[in-house]
Amino acid sequence: MRVIRTIKEMTDWVDAAKGPIALVPTQGCLHHGHESLLHAAKQDADIQGSVVMSLFVNPLQFRKPAYEAYPRQEQQDLELAENAGVDVVFAPEVCGMYPKARDLDWLFDLQNGQSGPRDRERFTIDHPEDTPEFEYVRVPQRLTHRMDGIDHPWHFDGVATVVRKLFQIIQPNTSYFGLKDIQQLAILQSLNLWMGSPTKIVPIPVVRDHDGLSSSSRLVLLDDEQRSIACQVVEFLNEASRQIRSSRNSVPDVLEGFRDACESIETEHNTLEIDALTYSDSTTLEELDDYSKNGVLYLAYIINGIRLAETLSQ
Ligand code: PAF
Repeated sequence: MRVIRTIKEMTDWVDAAKGPIALVPTQGCLHHGHESLLHAAKQDADIQGSVVMSLFVNPLQFRKPAYEAYPRQEQQDLELAENAGVDVVFAPEVCGMYPKARDLDWLFDLQNGQSGPRDRERFTIDHPEDTPEFEYVRVPQRLTHRMDGIDHPWHFDGVATVVRKLFQIIQPNTSYFGLKDIQQLAILQSLNLWMGSPTKIVPIPVVRDHDGLSSSSRLVLLDDEQRSIACQVVEFLNEASRQIRSSRNSVPDVLEGFRDACESIETEHNTLEIDALTYSDSTTLEELDDYSKNGVLYLAYIINGIRLAETLSQ
């Protein structure tokens, strides 16, 4: 397995590559969910193709304190990638990935909307006034002003900017994203169409631990009581999903019932807060009042400051 640190070296490798390229974009701190993306990429790349995994903690999608606190474990991640059959890990420095950016703080400042207004319907590329060579993708309001985007729409601008750049550098035939991050997936599919990109985006089902919680790097932060609260929340969510499928009650009623059920969970030392709860179309992200086979139930909840998310497709 080769580790590449610069765009120049990466594009040279792409120019010389024979066969299809399957790309798994990551920010490291790999868990079972990433392993399933790598496994799918490996199967598609077959004997002739190559699997590239990017490993880059993207400052554009975090506030500065969260970026600094983000867990980094490169050695462990490289071992996991090698065991999963990855051929190349692309792990650039921030200044290598964004050579036109002035510095790290300048990247964080972009999140404050200084680069221009967001369109309601269309993707746009902004060129900040002081650095016109920098290309910052703005995701339309119709996709950002929902679910996790309500509080931080800039997060998805950061994701779209980095994924567009990775696609331009690596020119993958296929790229793999988890259904767990349903808003990210819908935005990237829409971005891909808008870019007229030849890359096929492959959605990968949610991977769950033995007790039903979806894999996440944050699960290790939970103590026993917190984990048991999370399991009860997921049980209630599964029940809500069953009720929506059976169409016995309207979606708003089911969601209200879910909130009531969560309030009844007894905790000794913890707080439980529902941060986002929606039933939406998985492509347009528009909220639905009735069952749809394209519907997806999304929940973000916070147990004593630890934010977790669940996605249940219908
Ligand atoms: O899902 C993630 O880990 C990130 O948002 C991604 C797609 C790797 C872009 O930084």
